[in-house]
Amino acid sequence: MTLYGAIPFMQAHRKDSTVGIFWLNAAETWIDITKAKEAKNPLALGIGAKTNTHTHWISESGILDVFIFLGPRPADVLQNYVELTGYTAMPQEFSLGYHQCRWNYMSDDDVRDVDRKMDKFAIPYDVIWLDIEYTDGKKYFTWDPNMFSDPIGMGKQLEEHGRNLVVIIDPHIKNEEGYEVVAELKSKDLAVKNKDGGVFDGWCWPGSSHWIDAFNPAAAQWWASLFKYDRFKGTMENTWIWNDMNEPSVFNGPETTMPKDNIHHGGWEHRDVHNLNGYTFHNATYQALLSRKAGELRRPFVLTRSFFAGSQRVGAMWTGDNQASWEYLAASIPMVLSQGISGFPFAGADVGGFFGNPDKDLQARWYQAGAFYPFFRGHAHIDARRREPYLAGEPYTSIITAALRLRYSLLPSWYTAFRRAHVDGSPIVRPLFYTHPGEEGGFGIDDQFFVGDTGLLVKPVVEKDKDTAEVFIPDDEVYYDYFTYEVVATGDRGKTVTVTAPLEKIPLLMRGGYVFPRRDRPRRSSALMRWDDYTLVVAVSRDGKTAAGELYADDGDSFEFEQGQFIHRRFVLDVAAGTLISTDASSGAAAKARKEGAWLQGMRQVVVDKVVLVGAPAAWAGKKEVTVESEGKTWTAPLVFTAGEKGRAGFAIVRKLGARIGADWKVTFA
Ligand code: NOJ
Repeated sequence: MTLYGAIPFMQAHRKDSTVGIFWLNAAETWIDITKAKEAKNPLALGIGAKTNTHTHWISESGILDVFIFLGPRPADVLQNYVELTGYTAMPQEFSLGYHQCRWNYMSDDDVRDVDRKMDKFAIPYDVIWLDIEYTDGKKYFTWDPNMFSDPIGMGKQLEEHGRNLVVIIDPHIKNEEGYEVVAELKSKDLAVKNKDGGVFDGWCWPGSSHWIDAFNPAAAQWWASLFKYDRFKGTMENTWIWNDMNEPSVFNGPETTMPKDNIHHGGWEHRDVHNLNGYTFHNATYQALLSRKAGELRRPFVLTRSFFAGSQRVGAMWTGDNQASWEYLAASIPMVLSQGISGFPFAGADVGGFFGNPDKDLQARWYQAGAFYPFFRGHAHIDARRREPYLAGEPYTSIITAALRLRYSLLPSWYTAFRRAHVDGSPIVRPLFYTHPGEEGGFGIDDQFFVGDTGLLVKPVVEKDKDTAEVFIPDDEVYYDYFTYEVVATGDRGKTVTVTAPLEKIPLLMRGGYVFPRRDRPRRSSALMRWDDYTLVVAVSRDGKTAAGELYADDGDSFEFEQGQFIHRRFVLDVAAGTLISTDASSGAAAKARKEGAWLQGMRQVVVDKVVLVGAPAAWAGKKEVTVESEGKTWTAPLVFTAGEKGRAGFAIVRKLGARIGADWKVTFA
């Protein structure tokens, strides 16, 4: 059904072969998909027939370019597609943390209070959001003078713990005498026109409104002027933007959108470009945030509801208005996975469900699933009861807090996955047909997935009263339980294994052969983790020989990474040699030529503190220490080995390793 966003990109996959079609057209489009058995010989009565899938594409109007991608792997198709439509922008690092939203936090005091309570309950979060009620009568770029009399004071309180504020700005501009923004929109002639050439008037939250025509470069330029700090008073460096209703949503329009014969810049009818509308607006906001202040070069954060192929270049999306029900929780997983294989992986669904009130089990399970959405935000409708995590009560608040802490500890791995998406379009969360294109048993599975290149396999529980999860194992590697190190599968390709998952547990496995980074110290926000030391988790392969992985880190905020201001390491465990080594994985001329800027200098203090080796060889049983060599020095660090028992793998923990994260180093176990 027609709704928020459109990415007219289709992939067809069978064992070891993938093709893709990108139907570049922005008009209303329908696709019929029919599967039929076809035999070469019509007299064979279906014997020897193969199922063929036919797709029939129907667009109402507009210009059409069709691109065909030949694969052969899903990764090839996707890489070609993103090369064409653009790579995921490197995000603000904070935006991978948890976002606390509702419609609405009613006053600046309300925001301050939630902020304090999150601290009191030691619940990490990075961003609090303001929906439409913060404005003065739904006039964007204004604040309700009574309820939000001190937005800067509010922003500063958030800043104390490195936190951020996101405020909503929609494309409908209230048609009201004396509202400067609408006066400029009209006098500069930058609004969408009706079929007769007059300014289009429709209804949205503010009542009678006009719509900025972001197809017009002059409109985008004017839009940017509205976000300057001295123009949008009350905003500051930690204020970011949410674009909603940008399909556009018009309450009294046909199919709740604009009349198709409305006219955009250049004389285009709305019917020709409808699906592109949201992107133009999102892009205008992204560009606006790039120019809030001369000399301020920070990555914008802009969430959008409407999107098109290419929107990944300018921000994140969420899946819109869902329900607080188990069905919607379940549906969120394939939706988020679809975004990932469509080049726009920075995606999430409203945690807890937008409409209605989740029961506490549902809320807890939703946080556990949300901790594995690339974009992780709790949100609720204005009529829904308050449900900030600390209100849930025990054991729920602790369960939710644990899910949030898990997310935060894995932030280095999430950020590394975003870097991959940024350079080659890889999905951040990956379905099995993508990771294992030759394993047919996984093709139909859309409720479990891998996170980046970490080897982490998660299957969120999305059913009520369920305390186990059936996880499909796509290969013969060993899979360890993330929390207990129990060997859940080994040599079980194509089988489904049952993992226990009482309410407090997320079914999360580690695939053998991977190394992934964490930061284990619980903090109140991601900004406060900036200089924390790292933990490396090494999941030894089934043959007991190897594991490898990577870490990418940069300042998480500026564009200096483009000048080589980043750390990119590759970690390799070689059991035969008895070594774990870290080498520089940076590529590109900028990295080679880099001089240390402030962030890289700060990172000189940051070390690998701990290494956890799951599936450590039994031969290491007697070992008490390891040798560390780095930067011309050699020292030892303590190792504690715990033998495997009752199905649990043996593991070893090295503490106080002390090698710099940015340097080459070698740990020797022999
Ligand atoms: C619709 C959005 O989808 C929802 O998230 C938001 O709360 C309301 N608009 C009000 O702005």
